[in-house]
Amino acid sequence: MNDDIKHAIHYHEETKHSELGLQMSRHYLDWDDKPRPFKVYQELSSIPLPQDFPIPTADALTCIRSVRPFLPESPLDIRALAQFLFFSAGITREMKYDSGTYYMRAASATGALYPIELYVISKEFAGLPAGVYHFCPGNFSLVELRSGDYRSKLAEMAGGNPNILSSAVTVALTSFAWRNAWKYGDRSYRHWFWDSGVIASNLLAVAISAGVEPALVTGFLDAGVNNLLRLEQRSEAAVVLAPLGSSLVKGPEVSDFRPDPEPLPVLDIPRIIPISKRETEHPEIWKLHDASSLLSPKEVAQWLSSSKNKFTNVASEDLSQEHMQDKRQDLDSLSDVILLRGSTRRFSRSPISKNHLSTILFSSTRGVPLDVLAKGESLVDIYLIANAVEGLAPGHYFYNRHAKSLEQLDAMNELASRNESGYLCLGQPLFSDASAVLFMMTDINAILKTLGNRGYRACQFEAGVVAGKIYLSSYAQGLGASGSTFYDDAVTESFGPHARNKAAMIAVGVGMPAYKARRGKILAARLTKSQLLSNG
Ligand SMILES: Cc1cc2nc3c(=O)[nH]c(=O)nc-3n(C[C@H](O)[C@H](O)[C@H](O)COP(=O)(O)O)c2cc1C
Repeated sequence: MNDDIKHAIHYHEETKHSELGLQMSRHYLDWDDKPRPFKVYQELSSIPLPQDFPIPTADALTCIRSVRPFLPESPLDIRALAQFLFFSAGITREMKYDSGTYYMRAASATGALYPIELYVISKEFAGLPAGVYHFCPGNFSLVELRSGDYRSKLAEMAGGNPNILSSAVTVALTSFAWRNAWKYGDRSYRHWFWDSGVIASNLLAVAISAGVEPALVTGFLDAGVNNLLRLEQRSEAAVVLAPLGSSLVKGPEVSDFRPDPEPLPVLDIPRIIPISKRETEHPEIWKLHDASSLLSPKEVAQWLSSSKNKFTNVASEDLSQEHMQDKRQDLDSLSDVILLRGSTRRFSRSPISKNHLSTILFSSTRGVPLDVLAKGESLVDIYLIANAVEGLAPGHYFYNRHAKSLEQLDAMNELASRNESGYLCLGQPLFSDASAVLFMMTDINAILKTLGNRGYRACQFEAGVVAGKIYLSSYAQGLGASGSTFYDDAVTESFGPHARNKAAMIAVGVGMPAYKARRGKILAARLTKSQLLSNG
């Protein structure tokens, strides 16, 4: 089924935004049925995580762009685990509105709906027995789902993945489909990967800052991992696995690995408090999810081996434009940047410097440690519309991440470029006001031919990680950023022949905020049950 790529092509076409499509849409939001943002188990008790965890003090930009740790590792204990979970998905702001209180988090999330749940598959730590746990950011605790060391079982489900095998802990990211489908319908399957990608970009940076080597695993037996995490079928599913600390445990454990002949016991699905009164089925989501699932160890191995070294989708022309240097100006710590981060709600229209832009581009494109990518390769390219960047004419550009250079595709006047970037982002004025709007784009057909339907997950996910890095590297320089959705085909057309075969994955506007944003806080809180169950 993964090879039958008509499923991904069909889904992508059917979920494109166009101006006409949105005008004709009858979709409305049933506020009375808004899903709750926290997963609360009815019968399982939780283990509080320590609130006195270390904070990532390393320089933010270095952490964002590094793929390997550059500092000595700090001990990977339960406090370090609490740090990773908090700075990836913890609560950093409490916003009170007439309609209720919203708990905003360390990473962005489409529509602030927070469909991504985090789970931990861990060895024993002092204060935490080996097991499989669910992380609840609302009361900063773990719920035990299985007791025992399941790391080698998980590694086996990912084709004997050596990073999982040698890591003390793997964080699994899942998506609760209805949480986001409530607002975004069938298109929300794309958001599974965008929303997990931005969380993963935080997780990568925080791991790097702790001297721990992270990896991202997208090739695994879907049903096996969902069973391990005791997920309700057709409700929630695993998206990506993030082993942390693979460099800490040395060789023998990996070379001694033998698959366990015993099948993983199937346990009952723990009861949770329903996230909504009623859920509407979105079969298109599950059709593609099934069609991109890996069903046997053979399929996992095939998929992994089909991918490496095949992607060189950076254009081969000589891009002789100005060489962009990554010149550092300030040294904000990663924790400051993550706490400051939010999605900018109004840009001032004042220009950013060329150095700001080149630092964002450079820091976001040094590589994502995805299992399907050979070192230095990427499934996504960045195109951008510059509206107000000192020293750059307004217009369309392509970023060559290898040459670290921008190729100018055309020149426009500022009014025209602002109109264009705002229009492409569904006419939202925020993206006319941004100094530049960056579009992650990918040659979907080439990727599907090599990776099958699952390649669709991989390129959307990588775009999410890059978008997360754009957010962080903007805030690290005192700028603001916001993700955006877009009119799909209009984006491809806008970038002309250069982007002819490429589809937009995600857009992110960057610029000077028009206001001083309040810094977030470490709210590793213990929300009460009624707060956890409110759907603000
Ligand atoms: C992939 C992505 C797309 C987004 N699209 C939009 C958008 O089209 N318009 C908008 O105003 N905000 C957009 N956002 C911002 C979210 O609304 C924002 O992340 C969410 O409200 C949480 O707030 P925070 O980022 O300030 O923590 C997007 C965010 C992401 C990650």
